Amino acid sequence: MSDLLDAGERLGRDELAALQLERLRATLHHAYDNVPFYRESFDKAGVRPEDCRSLTDLARFPFTAKTDLREQYPFGMFAVDRSEIRRIHASSGTTGRPTVVGYTERDLDTWADVVARSIRAAGGRPGHRVHVAYGYGLFTGGLGAHYGAERLGCTVIPASGGMTARQVQLIQDFEPDVIMVTPSYMLTLLDEFERQGVDPRGTSLKVGIFGAEPWTEEMRREIEERFAIDAVDIYGLSEVMGPGVAQECVETKDGLHIWEDHFLPEIVDPVTGEVLPDGEEGELVFTSLTKEAMPVVRYRTRDLTRLLPGTARVFRRMEKVTGRSDDMVILRGVNLFPTQIEEIVLRTPAVAPHFQLRLTREGRLDALTVRAEARPGATPEQRAEAARVIAAAVKDGIGVSVAVEVVDPETLERSVGKIKRIVDLRDRA
Ligand code: DLL
Repeated sequence: MSDLLDAGERLGRDELAALQLERLRATLHHAYDNVPFYRESFDKAGVRPEDCRSLTDLARFPFTAKTDLREQYPFGMFAVDRSEIRRIHASSGTTGRPTVVGYTERDLDTWADVVARSIRAAGGRPGHRVHVAYGYGLFTGGLGAHYGAERLGCTVIPASGGMTARQVQLIQDFEPDVIMVTPSYMLTLLDEFERQGVDPRGTSLKVGIFGAEPWTEEMRREIEERFAIDAVDIYGLSEVMGPGVAQECVETKDGLHIWEDHFLPEIVDPVTGEVLPDGEEGELVFTSLTKEAMPVVRYRTRDLTRLLPGTARVFRRMEKVTGRSDDMVILRGVNLFPTQIEEIVLRTPAVAPHFQLRLTREGRLDALTVRAEARPGATPEQRAEAARVIAAAVKDGIGVSVAVEVVDPETLERSVGKIKRIVDLRDRA
């Protein structure tokens, strides 16, 4: 394996720190000199780029939030001349204006490099066929995966999302080695294999690279078993680059190595903003180290995780993301993430790995109903027992009472990309 590593992956910890500081200082200058938003925000905080003399000095600089990016819609965060922008992506977001991001030619090159590195860490090799079922378009998933796979020397099948029956056909006919897709859409594909009477364990696939939404160890086990593949996690966000900010290595499957030569992570207390030591859970914050078109300084991702030492690589790891602070449901004072329900649902044999969380208001209290889908053939008794077991596991494990409905097979909406787990009916209640 080690002879396959690129130059960045071979750096020692000290060399890496020196490179990070040099790149960080350049990024702070670039942002301050070329983006009025950063100039104002640094000035307001009373810091100058030259105040950054060590990596820990970064904590003196102000955060950047998603709302800041929205307010600069569409191109206010760009740090280069409009003619230097080679590509634009945007994330739709759930409310209001989308967030727009831009890339120079060199940024696209860097992005392809980090995704190539990610696919290689996942077990992909030059010559492999890679089926990309992340959506192509303004979403960074499809094109990000695409150029990374080409950069590694793979053959890309740009399937994009949707047309599920055809995806299954293409997987059988083109015999890909690797699939890149959201974990929830992989389950939709699983249903379709079964509907067509094709054994999902019998495909050519060896590796699945799943991301763009939180998923659990239970989901990994389910997918690995049902497809007979290795399932690894890829993380990224448009504001920082797209997919390929961090990647799990197939040989360890122990969290995601952050490509720290390009993206500098911090974990902060989500409430106070204080920097937390490695190992403690909090909100992930990124500063880009090499981006030209849209440098980001201390961007608050809202993703909750912790930093761990490197294993298969020198780079630090982030634990699988448990959830986003804005996906957290606070139910009668108890914090709950959809991933916690996922763990429980996937441990319950009579239900399929499809579920939805419905939030309603009963009087002045919020109420949550877990709707999980019965496996075909489950008897009424098994369904009732499953509902009881899930409710008890939520009560015991999370500490809050929820209602559980086990609904008929094939009744919950299927994912075609990022799945929306929470249906919030509280405003209408
Ligand atoms: O989802 C980029 C991406 C595409 C990553 C394909 C991986 C694979 P955005 O649409 O900007 O970009 O959404 C970013 O998605 O802040 C997380 O909340 C969530 N997310 C992405 N990857 C993971 C993951 C892409 N592996 C937001 N685990 C992020 C958990 C993830 N959440």
